[in-house]
Amino acid sequence: MSDPTSQANYTEIFTEHCAFKWNVDFTNKKITGSVTHDLHVAKDGVREVIFDTADLDIHSVEVEGNTVSYEVKAKHPIMGSALHIPLPSGLKSGSSIKVLINYQTTKDCTALQWLEKEQTQGKSFPYLFSQCQPIYARAISPIQDSPSVKIKYSAEVTSVLPALMSAIRQSPPSTGPAHDGRVIGKDEVTYVYHQPIPIPSYLIAIAAGNVVYRPFPRHPGKAWTCGIWTEPELIEDAYWEFSEDTARFLASAEEIVVPYRFGVYDLLVLPPSFPYGGMENSCLTFLTPTLLAGDRTLVDVIAHELTHSWFGNGVTHADASHFWLNEGWTTYIERLLLQVLHSPADRGFSFIIGYKALQDDLEMYADKPKYRRLVIEFEKGEDPDDAYSGIPYDKGANLILHLERTLGGLDVFLPYVRDYVSTFMGKSITTQEWKEHLYTYYEKNGGAEKIKALDSGWFYGEGLELPVKMEYDSTLAESAYRLAERWDSSRSVEISKLEFSENDMNNFSSTQKVVFLERLQSYKPLPSSHVEHLASLYKVSATHNAEIRLRFYQFSLADPTSPAAQKYAVEGADWVIGGGTGMVVGRMKFCRDVFRAVYKVDKDLAVDAFQKAKNSFHPIARKLIEKVICIFKTHSDSFQVLTLSF
Ligand code: BES
Ligand code: ZN
Repeated sequence: MSDPTSQANYTEIFTEHCAFKWNVDFTNKKITGSVTHDLHVAKDGVREVIFDTADLDIHSVEVEGNTVSYEVKAKHPIMGSALHIPLPSGLKSGSSIKVLINYQTTKDCTALQWLEKEQTQGKSFPYLFSQCQPIYARAISPIQDSPSVKIKYSAEVTSVLPALMSAIRQSPPSTGPAHDGRVIGKDEVTYVYHQPIPIPSYLIAIAAGNVVYRPFPRHPGKAWTCGIWTEPELIEDAYWEFSEDTARFLASAEEIVVPYRFGVYDLLVLPPSFPYGGMENSCLTFLTPTLLAGDRTLVDVIAHELTHSWFGNGVTHADASHFWLNEGWTTYIERLLLQVLHSPADRGFSFIIGYKALQDDLEMYADKPKYRRLVIEFEKGEDPDDAYSGIPYDKGANLILHLERTLGGLDVFLPYVRDYVSTFMGKSITTQEWKEHLYTYYEKNGGAEKIKALDSGWFYGEGLELPVKMEYDSTLAESAYRLAERWDSSRSVEISKLEFSENDMNNFSSTQKVVFLERLQSYKPLPSSHVEHLASLYKVSATHNAEIRLRFYQFSLADPTSPAAQKYAVEGADWVIGGGTGMVVGRMKFCRDVFRAVYKVDKDLAVDAFQKAKNSFHPIARKLIEKVICIFKTHSDSFQVLTLSF
């Protein structure tokens, strides 16, 4: 029953608190320092503590102040190297013990990306940021890297550039002078952080660069604070994009669930290579700069990340097999927030968009049907990144929506949601524990019989359909569907006789444009000339909105043999590698999907483009793009390209 992605012996002895002392060395691109673990003994006579590590140089280890010898085991390709540290004999369950490890990160660190100054907005200072989910915290510190272990932490980070962590800043104050009034890029300042709430290791995060802070206005009656960090060049735009909605969303989420516990909810807009849309690091959500659309249309990502404060950061999945408890619940509540703050039609619209992503991802796993399940029983050492897709998000959210509807709507469902969160707050749970609570709750409060026949296909189904046909409010989708249908039925009309106009989408929101382009993909590919005509009328290949641009490339590359596909494959590849500027579109949702589509049209183009920009991608993105374009690292560290036929 232990975590399939970890080698730590956390059921015998586990960390309660970590104290990090780090020095950020931008010159040599490494973090050097130490971690002190306060461990709680859970089994009488335990003789060693085992930590996960990946590509770390361990210098020395002390147990209760005494230097000890230790063993770093051979590296497992996914789980890394287990660090075995002997403990004194006779330890009693319930006692505690301190272990200090001196170490440094190495150039192979998968969790960190070190950016050159050219890869930042300001182009004047380097930048560092981390991404620890799902299993990369072990690459920045020896740790029991399982979400079943929840730790408090403190950190003293010394750096020549302002440093941020996923915790509460103790000093210098966020609202004080940048870099404590010292010379940025030259003087060392020690940043002190404290995370008093136990969190899973994947929420440990660090960023350091030329960043500034701007607080959002206080929300009436709330003790928590919100604000935004970014490079000075983006602070105005970022503040405008998010200052209206963040505190309002957080306050609404508190109404739906229970009060926010982390005290601070700040946002950090990262450089473009950040590999996700958002990452819910505690106290400090990390965001891709592609959200700065200039029209506040992508704030649903904020709604999503802040919802994790309860689902994930509060109630945590026990291990990768139950990842859907984090993402499915979060997606369900994110869409409920949209219903409360916008309209019921917005909620339905999000489910419609999600359903398309779900179908695509279910199809993608034709060779790996196990990953189509909601509950994936991982083998020991299997890579959770291989299973990462929209399935836990949308199958999960649909399951919860189905329960809401079956049990009688929000009036009877929301009290259950509150009870669920209150029951498991601070704990890490499995699907079984979630399910037992659900049934117990409705047995107590009436209604359990309505979900007695819950189809096990929700959890273990490997098909392309959900066990229940779901209906969504399609008000906002209709106009997009109609326009797509007109294009489909005009496929044999000559270009000169086509009756489309550049104003067709004037009244469309950017999400409706997305749905229009997605709907087109459900038809047979349009003739090449029509694709080009559509692109020139609607300017969808030049838009700054990455969500629209991605859908355009997916649509225009659908028929690999068409001249339009050849043309837009070149454009698409150039877009994601940043046209040679080093400013790649690093969000995997965009770059990986564009690489996948380009690869189907022109393998060499995809591989060449990737080779050009490889070093600008985040190590995680690099690893996952290499998989979609079938490049595998060989032992000699040179690249081997496998040509697979599709
Ligand atoms: N926690 C995830 C990101 C993640 C998941 C990183 C698994 C590594 C492993 C985050 O909350 C997320 O879901 N981000 C989404 C945005 C969201 C609006 C669906 C993303 O990045 O696309
Ligand atoms: Zn999420």
